[in-house]
Amino acid sequence: MVVVGQGYVGLPLAMRAVEMGHSVTGLEADASRVAQLVAGTSYVEDVSAAALASAVDSGRYRVTSDPGCCDGFDVAVIAVPTPLRYGMPDLSFIEQAAAAVGQHLRVGTTVVLESTSYPGTTQEVVAPILEGKSGLRAGPDFHLGYSPERIDPGNPVWDLVNTPKLVSGIDGPSLVAVQSFYDTLVDKTFPVVGCMEAELAKLIENTFRHVNVALVNELTIFAADLGIDVWEAIKAASTKPFGFMAFTPGPGVGGHCLPIDPSYLSWRVERVLGRPFRFVALAKDINDHMPDYVAERVVLALNRRRLAVHGSRLLLLGLAYKPNTSDARESPAVAVAVRLAALGADVRAADPHVRNSRTDPRVLDVPCSADELTAADLVVLLTDHDDFDYDLVGACASHVLDTRHRLSPAANVEFL
Ligand SMILES: NC(=O)c1ccc[n+]([C@@H]2O[C@H](COP(=O)([O-])OP(=O)(O)OC[C@H]3O[C@@H](n4cnc5c(N)ncnc54)[C@H](O)[C@@H]3O)[C@@H](O)[C@H]2O)c1
Repeated sequence: MVVVGQGYVGLPLAMRAVEMGHSVTGLEADASRVAQLVAGTSYVEDVSAAALASAVDSGRYRVTSDPGCCDGFDVAVIAVPTPLRYGMPDLSFIEQAAAAVGQHLRVGTTVVLESTSYPGTTQEVVAPILEGKSGLRAGPDFHLGYSPERIDPGNPVWDLVNTPKLVSGIDGPSLVAVQSFYDTLVDKTFPVVGCMEAELAKLIENTFRHVNVALVNELTIFAADLGIDVWEAIKAASTKPFGFMAFTPGPGVGGHCLPIDPSYLSWRVERVLGRPFRFVALAKDINDHMPDYVAERVVLALNRRRLAVHGSRLLLLGLAYKPNTSDARESPAVAVAVRLAALGADVRAADPHVRNSRTDPRVLDVPCSADELTAADLVVLLTDHDDFDYDLVGACASHVLDTRHRLSPAANVEFL
């Protein structure tokens, strides 16, 4: 089989497929990533160096940038990025991947799209490219389906294998082919009636989270002004055993999913129906505003201590978009760092997971050491990685703004 894209989604999938006996070619456009994998270095936390070595040693995993090496596959899975470009879906990676796969399609093979995209992508974008490149027909000649990835990088409980996998096909035989393939990899597959429903299911999951995070974020801003402890209120509401699901406030949303995927849905709705998706627009507005709100809270915290933000030494803890990951894509923590640097603060950032975090040359990479903590006028906890020494933070910092409610209440700690 071929897995196009060896990133956060494609690499774990390729490893699992090798583990379950498949022969896998990882097609990866980024030559530096190919070199790292060949050298036995994994850049994805969920894939250990040992797992990568064992896949290579099995003789059933190879990685390449050469689409010519895709020849002879039975199943091809496309797991390439789906970013926004000028606020609109950018399907160019999917188009290139489909073109590469299409050249090697044979009668009876199966192609699955895993990338997150708007409903209609599999049938309206992927199928015509595969057909054009191969001269075959989707359905009668080859199987085609959509199976969204639900991976949550760094989640110690739910992974690729034990999270139910949605599977769909453009017709009955395609669904059977897609489901039988994933049945070899995961504990449980769930067949969905069509590709559009499976595509929408993935966007519902992410939009649900995006909207609920926005709800608690806006509540947090109001609760602070009303003098109410929103964290205690959420804890209290969470005791209801039905009809409530707790979401926690934070400095905003980041990563490859939440800031982007709902916009794929609203773009499609607006494009096809000519109507705005108001919930998505509102949630995006609130979540996008959170780094500004955190910067405002920093200014206020300094002001109370008669300090101006300009020239103050700030230590930011965490730049990744969520705990225990190195992924800083679209990270709100980075947005906070840039805003504070623009206000003239001496901004330092400590993140043991994020390499090359220098998204802004004014932000200095430092360790989370006693010296740095003590010297900072204010410490801002943005990403609550497990490996920060929180006792040290509480003991050394003169004042902390904790945006994740990770520290114990103390005189030198304030929460978002
Ligand atoms: N990261 C997540 O947690 C997550 C979870 C669920 C779904 N998704 C979705 O899965 C898709 C992939 O996300 P990701 O996080 O793995 O992205 P990623 O950037 O980590 O990996 C994608 C890889 O594809 C490669 N690539 C791009 N075009 C290519 C081509 N034509 N041929 C070969 N390789 C190519 C890139 O170089 C990159 O290494 C996206 O649609 C994303 O929204 C991601």
